[in-house]
Amino acid sequence: MTRPRVLSGVQPTGALHLGNWLGAIRNWVDLQDSHDTYFCVVDLHAITVPHDPGRLAEDTLTTAALYLACGIDPERSTVFVQSQVSAHSELAWLLNCVTPLNWLERMIQFKEKAIKQGDQVSVGLLDYPVLMAADILLYDADLVPVGEDQKQHLELARDIAQQRINARFAPRDAEGEPIALLRVPQPLILKDGARVMSLTDGTSKMSKSDPNEGSRITLLDPPELITKKIKRAKTDPTMGLEFGNPERPEADNLLGLYAVLSGQGREAAARECAEMGWGRFKPLLAEATVEALRPVQERYRSLRQDPASLLTVLRQGRERAAAVADATLSRVRDALGFLPPQP
Ligand code: AMP
Ligand code: TRP
Repeated sequence: MTRPRVLSGVQPTGALHLGNWLGAIRNWVDLQDSHDTYFCVVDLHAITVPHDPGRLAEDTLTTAALYLACGIDPERSTVFVQSQVSAHSELAWLLNCVTPLNWLERMIQFKEKAIKQGDQVSVGLLDYPVLMAADILLYDADLVPVGEDQKQHLELARDIAQQRINARFAPRDAEGEPIALLRVPQPLILKDGARVMSLTDGTSKMSKSDPNEGSRITLLDPPELITKKIKRAKTDPTMGLEFGNPERPEADNLLGLYAVLSGQGREAAARECAEMGWGRFKPLLAEATVEALRPVQERYRSLRQDPASLLTVLRQGRERAAAVADATLSRVRDALGFLPPQP
């Protein structure tokens, strides 16, 4: 039996935050034992909004190092940089030509980001989900572990694979039955930490693009900064922490973080904090956060002290990824009827 395939990625835009970790990367780590895992740094996605060319390469390395620091093991997983495997851009183009424009115009994340960009919205921002579909479909991924916010993009990748490629272009077997060209992926969204909200507003998600740094805790924040950010986090006038009260989004979010970061789970955390005031709760949360991030930060520092090893991991990852991606790409090129290049 071959193991089911997993692919996921995060953009190298600034330091990763607790939402990226709890919503995505943390879930990747466990999958390595039972799945065939591919994790990429999606640098082509990072240029869909204005970016700083002086930082892109460095941020890409930081993100890759954080994957490893969080427990991604290059012996068991293929870790690579998206832009270094050219099949991603190429399949994205082929998929572009079969994807209806109005499928992209309805993407929630596009609408949200487009508002922030004003009249500077690039075609790439609209096309972002098609590139993401290419990332996934190139590897015949069965599962894509992401946070809740990416569900709509996953749905789009499924629709493109099924309705726009397989249904129209799949070759037929001897009985005339279509042989699927692309595997149709499933999202994998774990409940705990699927949506980490901002520290300054419990109704909007923790995000790299929030101009207020106090709204997020990054994986590389030093302990004092973590404590300070939590101390300043928005609260409400009610005593006792609880889940699920729509009037108290901050309580729900911070208690949720405490449940995961302390490792005790939702029920135990809810019991422990049911009567607790904010003044007692916040130092507890700060300590749990600092302790949870300590080993990640230690590993990160030692990885960054040895850039040659990190680059070797990425080179090996690129070679393994390209072998799989190129095979899928040529399958799709053939099915679409392109003249094959002469060997
Ligand atoms: P991004 O930062 O948009 O590149 O997201 C990378 C990964 O982190 C994706 O799988 C997202 O779903 C996940 N993610 C980002 N922000 C959050 C958040 N606030 N809560 C949970 N997951 C998140
Ligand atoms: N769009 C994803 C995000 O912002 C990042 C991403 C790009 C991704 N390609 C992917 C996630 C492929 C999973 C699989 O979170």
